[in-house]
Amino acid sequence: MCGIVGYIGNKNAVPILLDGLLRLEYRGYDSAGISVIKNSDITVVKNQGRVLELFNICNNYAIDSSIGIAHTRWATHGKPSKLNAHPHLDNSNTFSVVHNGIIENYQEIKTFLKSKNYQFLSSTDTEVIPNLIHYYFSQTSMKNTKDFLTAVKNAINDFSGSFALEILCKTFPDNMIVVRKDSPIVIGRGLNEFFIASDIPAILSYTNNFYLLNDLEIAYLSKNTIEFYDINLSPIQKNSTVINLNASSVEKGDFEDFMLKEIFEQPKSIRETISVLLDEEKITFPNFSLKQEYLASINQIYIIGCGTAMHAGLGIKPLFQHLLKIPVTVDIASEFRYNESIISNRSLCIFISQSGETADTIAALKLSKSKGAKTIAITNVTGSSITREADFSLYTHAGPEIAVASTKAYTSQLTLLSILAIYMAEIIGFKDKALLDSLKNNLLSIPDKVDLALQSSERLKEIADTIFKEKDIFFLGRGIDHTVALEGSLKLKEITYIHSEAYPAGELKHGPIALIDKDISVISIITNPSLSNKILSNIKEVLSRGAKSIIITSLDDNNYELDSNFLIKLPNIHPFLSPIVAIVPLQLLAYYVSKNKGLDVDKPRNLAKSVTVE
Ligand code: AGP
Repeated sequence: MCGIVGYIGNKNAVPILLDGLLRLEYRGYDSAGISVIKNSDITVVKNQGRVLELFNICNNYAIDSSIGIAHTRWATHGKPSKLNAHPHLDNSNTFSVVHNGIIENYQEIKTFLKSKNYQFLSSTDTEVIPNLIHYYFSQTSMKNTKDFLTAVKNAINDFSGSFALEILCKTFPDNMIVVRKDSPIVIGRGLNEFFIASDIPAILSYTNNFYLLNDLEIAYLSKNTIEFYDINLSPIQKNSTVINLNASSVEKGDFEDFMLKEIFEQPKSIRETISVLLDEEKITFPNFSLKQEYLASINQIYIIGCGTAMHAGLGIKPLFQHLLKIPVTVDIASEFRYNESIISNRSLCIFISQSGETADTIAALKLSKSKGAKTIAITNVTGSSITREADFSLYTHAGPEIAVASTKAYTSQLTLLSILAIYMAEIIGFKDKALLDSLKNNLLSIPDKVDLALQSSERLKEIADTIFKEKDIFFLGRGIDHTVALEGSLKLKEITYIHSEAYPAGELKHGPIALIDKDISVISIITNPSLSNKILSNIKEVLSRGAKSIIITSLDDNNYELDSNFLIKLPNIHPFLSPIVAIVPLQLLAYYVSKNKGLDVDKPRNLAKSVTVE
């Protein structure tokens, strides 16, 4: 969603801000703007459209300054427009603010401010922020640092909802305030300079030393100093953390798009996730352990996430249930809270989120915790919001995922979850040790198998050439293969805008087969030998209605050749681990279809990389 960048130091802030905004483009946005202070005056430059256009406008204005804030906006309150773009000013042009999140009670605050003669130009919730700060500021001497801090503190006390804020004040042209609640923001430390961003990749080329703000902690910055305060304005101590990410991990390198790079990175990202946790058959989770008595006490496991993360939960459910013999419910985070889910201290709730910032997932986690459940977060981003809420945090080691369509995060999540399931089975004394050993051995060979799956790339391009003009595509699977079908269908929808459905193959004849005709392609995933004959019957049903058949399989059966227009062969995989490999051709297929259609693969329309509003 929206992105934030900030700079305070000795350099010209403008190129740093614009470069940061470009690096945040992947989050999705419709307008962009920056604000700097020069000669004690605030300048704001904003525009509806791409950051590159903002570059040109900034060049025309010839602005420079050593302090500034910047923003890319993804419209929630008020349509995409220059007027609604951030930064927003208060009526007296004293404060300039960029904001991620939603001020839920903005109408109420607006009414109050209007009664005090404040006027509003935009339709955003954000515009109340600089004006309310100004309102409180005007009740102070308006001279001291403390007055700036007090005004911000009083304003944020009135807000309900979520916010990450950068605030400039022309009375204090050498200072900036940064504060957050339920929306991410980090402060990177340089030498006599600070870089601020909603996402680490925006500023990773300048520093890897970061302050991670907790909710309602206020940072007061000058180019040389950083002070932290709690919500009562009592000073607090915070240490910075070194985050070992390589700046090249957020570059495309030789790849045309981030998504393609990330698909091809999967053997490496899976290998890294395994190597941290599984060493010569022994599983160790850093800073995490579960006791036999605890596992014996739970009667239910929930796995919760959104989109692709939720699909990873679906893909791992069979293994958890097989090994632990405990009912596992996989739920969509935004539904979980309204499903009357029965949660207690006997529930173990596992939350999956690549970004660690997904508002729905975090809200579901808070609810589970409030009902006494133990909570585990599985995320790819160190220090992300979800890790501050969960009892335990387990990290996938996929490296930064930039493309909006999630690929390597999904396969790393499945890998980590498989290891977690085996770890828990060992603790409860699962009897079939041979199965556990075989799963571990199979896991170790998965990176090579993903490598082999990537070799079907040229053939998938041919299939993409044939199907890219289609209006509807069906994905079929049975059992665990249906979970892969769901994820393949999501990838196709997201980046090609082709409508698609993922169905359990046996369910087709209960309704959706009415849609099948000669203009439809049906993609079937087959990795489980015990279900092969059943799905072949379903494929015959669609073939006899004229549909094209594409089969993706890890099995050997002459019928597959006969019953398909295109056949993609995968290496042999353990059925419980098959989604990690079987998804790869579907990711590539979606990618090539999108390229054929000339679309922006990494930044599909209407989508944002991390969805920080409910
Ligand atoms: C995946 O391709 C999507 N962009 C989306 O479904 C995503 O997986 C979902 O929004 C959850 O994100 P998270 O993993 O960062 O919580």
